[in-house]
Amino acid sequence: MDELVALCKRRGLIYQSSDIYGGLQGVYDFGPLGVELKNNIKKAWWESMVYSNDNIEGLDSSILTNPLVLKYSGHEDTFSDPMVDCKSCGLRFRADQVPSTCKKEDLTEPRQFNLMFKTNVGPIEDEDSYAYLRPETAQQIFTNFKNVIDSTSKSLPFGIAQIGKAFRNEITPRNFIFRVREFEQMELEYFVMPGLDEDCHDLWVQNRLDWWADQGVPIENIELYDVPNEELAHYSKKTIDLMYKFPHGVEELEGIANRTDFDLGSHSKKQEDLNISSNVQKNKDSNSKLAIQDENGKWIVPYVVEPSAGVERGFLAILNEAYNEEDLEDGKTRVVLKLKPHLAPIKAAVIPLKKNNPEIVDLSMSVKNKLQKLGLGRIIFENTGNIGKSYRKHDEIGTPVCVTVDFESLENKTVTIRDRDSMQQSRVNLENLNDFFINQIKY
Ligand code: GAP
Repeated sequence: MDELVALCKRRGLIYQSSDIYGGLQGVYDFGPLGVELKNNIKKAWWESMVYSNDNIEGLDSSILTNPLVLKYSGHEDTFSDPMVDCKSCGLRFRADQVPSTCKKEDLTEPRQFNLMFKTNVGPIEDEDSYAYLRPETAQQIFTNFKNVIDSTSKSLPFGIAQIGKAFRNEITPRNFIFRVREFEQMELEYFVMPGLDEDCHDLWVQNRLDWWADQGVPIENIELYDVPNEELAHYSKKTIDLMYKFPHGVEELEGIANRTDFDLGSHSKKQEDLNISSNVQKNKDSNSKLAIQDENGKWIVPYVVEPSAGVERGFLAILNEAYNEEDLEDGKTRVVLKLKPHLAPIKAAVIPLKKNNPEIVDLSMSVKNKLQKLGLGRIIFENTGNIGKSYRKHDEIGTPVCVTVDFESLENKTVTIRDRDSMQQSRVNLENLNDFFINQIKY
């Protein structure tokens, strides 16, 4: 973990938020390369969910959430962790995360601490003017269920996908970006006919394992954890957690839950007409029936299968898998991030051999512009004049290829391509560079 943290800071992937004022615990900023990697992870997820499945639609809902949403979802009553105080050191901990330095006899009895952030909306601060920052992106998918159906004419099975920020006032944020107070989730709510939910759940578990493998996190480094009944969230009938070997230990990367008809049932009006199987509280406020009618006019509340992954945890797992330290023939070592090319923050660096030679510089710039126009991600023109140093830097930030323009390039219109992983160099004709590059980077 220390090496990953150091690399993230050194190369501008992640910074402590509000650093110049001493930081803010459990909150991080993503720097120039971090934002690229993060965007690429989200793009890969969006492509695999929304673009690859015509029965999945996207959504971008608000972060500020009407308290009634989180009342009926059960979060106001149950979204809490047990907290204890240590009378000796004066610190507060989640009851299951007390450090071994605190003695049992110094701890208070655990009490429940709600993890939701509250804020005021509008100019008047009173009891009725508050809202929550959403603790999961899922709830607004449920509240928009009818809107999406009515505007897209979807029938079961279908899904709504969303990527966005979620906020949790974690008692003990820790392990770098693993447990933070502000993070992003990639969530799919997949609506199915009751009775088909269990098979669908199995399919999504496999689908998600395959997706992580495509991002460079192999299946053999993920354990499936069938969450026991006493640990299940209030809405879940069954949850399989994908547990990854993070540098600090094996912990949850993603959860795939069978949320049954709990959420749609909870947010629905006229619940008595709907034959809801979950134990939901009576809803006196909703103005919408979150159900569909079958061909006989019978109302059905779909079941929901939810794969829910954290972007930051994915980022950490992907970085951890990609990070390599290699011994070189000259006795030196290199750090190389063997990221899958579609995730690499920079797709190619174009480097002129001589930084003061106008012809070489011009040709390099035109190569950069040509590659940039392919729309595959960021290409940079790097006029440092020190090829060896550029190669080392780009190894460390995972750039799949470096393109060097030299005197020969001016004569025969070829460039040198240097491959990040093998360090092999080859000459490619400028005419073929686009095709070569598309083949290297495409996902
Ligand atoms: N909608 C379901 C849900 O929110 P969850 O297991 O509480 O379920 C889903 O969260 C995912 O969100 C987790 O698997 C994890 O990747 C990420 N996550 C949850 N809390 C987090 C935190 N405090 N910091 C970073 N990621 C978090």
